[in-house]
Amino acid sequence: MKRRVAILISGRGSNMAALIEAAKAGDFPAEIAVVISNRADAAGLDRARANGVATEIVESKPFGKDRAAFEKVLEESLARHRAELICLGGFMRLFTAEFVQRWHGRMLNIHPSLLPSFPGLDPHGQALKAGVKISGATVHFVIPETDAGPIVMQGAVPVHDDDTAEALSQRILSVEHRIYPEALRLLASGRLRLEGDLCKIAGGAGSGEPLISPLAR
Ligand code: GAR
Repeated sequence: MKRRVAILISGRGSNMAALIEAAKAGDFPAEIAVVISNRADAAGLDRARANGVATEIVESKPFGKDRAAFEKVLEESLARHRAELICLGGFMRLFTAEFVQRWHGRMLNIHPSLLPSFPGLDPHGQALKAGVKISGATVHFVIPETDAGPIVMQGAVPVHDDDTAEALSQRILSVEHRIYPEALRLLASGRLRLEGDLCKIAGGAGSGEPLISPLAR
């Protein structure tokens, strides 16, 4: 049985699209049951509909600071679509600790940096300011702290001297689109095991190829 996944978005939804695409494969262990946006103007909604995926809008703005009230309506939507797992794809709304606890071990997020470096806003600008030579993207389980939690998968890219935040974000985005479906595949097929703050992967192995940047010639 394929695991039923809800993708939560707030914007363009390119990670959402990568997950929808991956889930089209017959042997993918998850199906996208619904895409839920907290903004009616999220571009990703049209993309989801064009792929025949059910969409829902649960506007967060009317709830103001009352996050619990927003989450109650969100939970109803998740239940209606019998969601078993959640993937956050650029979902720009913080959850209460209670909501996170209810979905412990069942909710993934993607962030465009090699966590724990550069959590929060403008991770690309943060990476450029720090002068790192390698950055990347991280898929992790969600915990109450923002952009933290057991790391499932990471992908790395070189950072160039003349990079802008936009150029770096595009390079990282292509890695995001590769690792998010793979991380969901691992979760949905039961290959992930949480050990405290760590996530262990049954039969997991890195590519073995070091990424060195810059290359001295
Ligand atoms: C992605 O780069 C994602 O990693 C980032 O928002 C973007 C959403 O793009 N998420 C965060 O920064 C979470 N802290 P998308 O809507 O095209 O997937």
